[in-house]
Amino acid sequence: MSAVIDLRSDTVSKPSDAMRQAMATAEVGDDVFGDDPTVRALELRAASFMGKEAALFVPSGTMANLLAVMTHTRPGDEIVLGDQSHIFQYELGGAARIANVLTHPLKNNDDGSMDSDAVAAAMRQENLHSPGSTLLCVENTHNRCGGAALPLTAMDALTSVARERKVAVHLDGARIFNAAAALDVPAARIARDCDSVSFCLSKGLGCPVGSLLCGPAPFIERARRNRKLVGGGMRQVGILAAAGLYALDHNLGRLSEDHANARALAAGLRKLAAFRPNDPETNIVVVDIQQGRLADWISAFEQQGVLAVAFGPQRMRLVTHLNITRDDVDRALARIASIAGAVPI
Ligand SMILES: Cc1ncc(COP(=O)(O)O)c(C=O)c1O
Repeated sequence: MSAVIDLRSDTVSKPSDAMRQAMATAEVGDDVFGDDPTVRALELRAASFMGKEAALFVPSGTMANLLAVMTHTRPGDEIVLGDQSHIFQYELGGAARIANVLTHPLKNNDDGSMDSDAVAAAMRQENLHSPGSTLLCVENTHNRCGGAALPLTAMDALTSVARERKVAVHLDGARIFNAAAALDVPAARIARDCDSVSFCLSKGLGCPVGSLLCGPAPFIERARRNRKLVGGGMRQVGILAAAGLYALDHNLGRLSEDHANARALAAGLRKLAAFRPNDPETNIVVVDIQQGRLADWISAFEQQGVLAVAFGPQRMRLVTHLNITRDDVDRALARIASIAGAVPI
């Protein structure tokens, strides 16, 4: 059978030979002692990309978000976040279980934003009876909202409500560079009025692992202690940081290719009656199944060597990334078209 086309996630992308070479020759030290020059270089680079004072290298986006919540809040505080956000949906309730905060979810609009009046109404002042809201979490691009790039107007509306209420803002920017490419603005502009921002190296940027949490220097020093607390202190981790530096040098300019490939994929799927795809703004295609059962489609795709994931009761997700070419998209569409009548309606 011909090569599998893996569209489950951008996390499945593999490090290139050149990235592996950069990793193999990285200068390293013990990062818990602050001795790893490659990690320090990556943290400086990340902070400058995000327009923040400092950054912290962590193993995952989940840990970056958890540390942001732990560091911005005190146990018993409340955080306001989207009901479709990764923090609320997919991080095993770490904010509640580990950071000991209440999570107050508000409806995410289709574009990934939240209504700023609803956010204002949800924010509570601490008193004898109620916890105080101390953090607003925003996500851009928004994974469950089909990779939507929240427009700057939406970001600005949310950050100004938070500022008025003296509530900190954390931006889960796991795919912020996709948002920057889609909106055609620097990532630092998107993160400008957020107190902290995290982004992932291990998704569209093609690294094997790693995320960065960025913010003011005192905040990052407190986050460093929290990283140690949750077991995220790493040692000769310059080997991984080198992959990140390589990605920031080489893999940012090509993200719009992933977006064009996602649009081509969605356009091809739209021609088939069984599927109603979104209009992708970035690299995520979400498809509502109009005919047949999701599980049957996923396994029929798999038999044809096209991998996708379930993303709701009748919704699947396909993600383009740096190991997917335009030819792969065309091949995937041809394979899907060949079975489009095969799944029982
Ligand atoms: C928006 C968003 N935030 C955070 C994460 C978590 O990243 P990780 O899988 O590295 O923990 C993901 C992962 O898919 C994500 O999509």
